[in-house]
Amino acid sequence: MGSSSYFFTSLLLVVVFNLAKGQPLVPALFIFGDSVVDVGNNNHLYTIVKANFPPYGRDLKNHNPTGRFCNGKLASDYTAENLGFTSYPPAYLNLKAKGNNLLNGANFASAASGYYDPTAKLYHAIPLSQQLEHYKECQNILVGTVGQSNASSIISGSIYLISAGNSDFIQNYYINPLLYKNIYALGARKIGVTTLPPMGCLPATITLFGSDSNQCVVKLNNDAINFNKKLNTTSQSLQKSLSGLKLAILDIYQPLYDLVTKSSENGFFEARKACCGTGLLETSVLCNQKSIGTCANASEYVFWDGFHPSEAANKVLSDDLLAAGISLIS
Ligand SMILES: *[C@@H]1O[C@H](CO)[C@@H](O)[C@H](O)[C@H]1NC(C)=O
Ligand SMILES: *[C@@H]1O[C@H](CO)[C@@H](O)[C@H](O)[C@H]1NC(C)=O
Ligand SMILES: *[C@@H]1O[C@H](CO)[C@@H](O)[C@H](O)[C@H]1NC(C)=O
Repeated sequence: MGSSSYFFTSLLLVVVFNLAKGQPLVPALFIFGDSVVDVGNNNHLYTIVKANFPPYGRDLKNHNPTGRFCNGKLASDYTAENLGFTSYPPAYLNLKAKGNNLLNGANFASAASGYYDPTAKLYHAIPLSQQLEHYKECQNILVGTVGQSNASSIISGSIYLISAGNSDFIQNYYINPLLYKNIYALGARKIGVTTLPPMGCLPATITLFGSDSNQCVVKLNNDAINFNKKLNTTSQSLQKSLSGLKLAILDIYQPLYDLVTKSSENGFFEARKACCGTGLLETSVLCNQKSIGTCANASEYVFWDGFHPSEAANKVLSDDLLAAGISLIS
């Protein structure tokens, strides 16, 4: 994005947010996807892909490991704040997600899930198709709580955030346009989809595939770039064929690539290693309280664990998400 349009967008955001004055800009936020946005659904599953133990969550207000794959807040948590919500859409499988809290949305994401359902099944995570089923249950609860007509306006006015594809690289990159058609058929009209990050710059992928170079793995980055192009084309054709749909592609690739390659300019000291453990590989169960070498101050690190950005990086990314998603709220 050019700096002048960036400036204009930022200005617009400031105006919009001042107008909002505590009233959320949209009725609710519904979140689907993988570990980048999971806030605790996997805590309830028989999977090894979990983050509900320390040091995960150590920089959250109550230092609680919630299931977020981060030391603190996710980019989607900042997005909820930026939209004017005072609480985050709860994990659907957490009990508190049942009942009135659903009015502000829910989070259906499950770490290790992907566009490709077998990815999720491999890790006993919740496939996106099943996340949609959970969303349908949620719609029924909404109708029961506020009635059909109020529920319909919540459903069509809300933002649907999808972050997927990050886990698919293990098996195959794949976009499922049917997912978008199904979510549209259920009444969604404002959908934000994050792109793949620079997969080749994640600490763990450099360790695994970088042949000792400590540099971003070009092949994996190119795979991500190609996937993102396809995502963009898919989004444009869906917008043409599904009337009234706003589908914004929220680019994570460039902002995270910039954080990695120009980390010190962005106030970070370390981008090759993650904070947790040796920082070369550990994620999920391998990032735990006994991990040796975990850093003291995760704000100095772009990555919290081998695959996931730190809270400080997520804060930066969320600003870019918002700029890219402005069309959904204007
Ligand atoms: C539906 O929305 C209207 C207008 O906002 C409100 O007055 C009414 O109480 C709502 N109905 C229910 C059942 O919540
Ligand atoms: C999608 O493609 C259009 C035109 O082909 C381009 O202008 C736009 O920047 C692309 N968006 C992203 C997020 O890459
Ligand atoms: C952690 O690092 C950040 C970024 O360099 C810095 O602003 C902050 O003061 C540090 N916090 C502590 C407790 O040292």
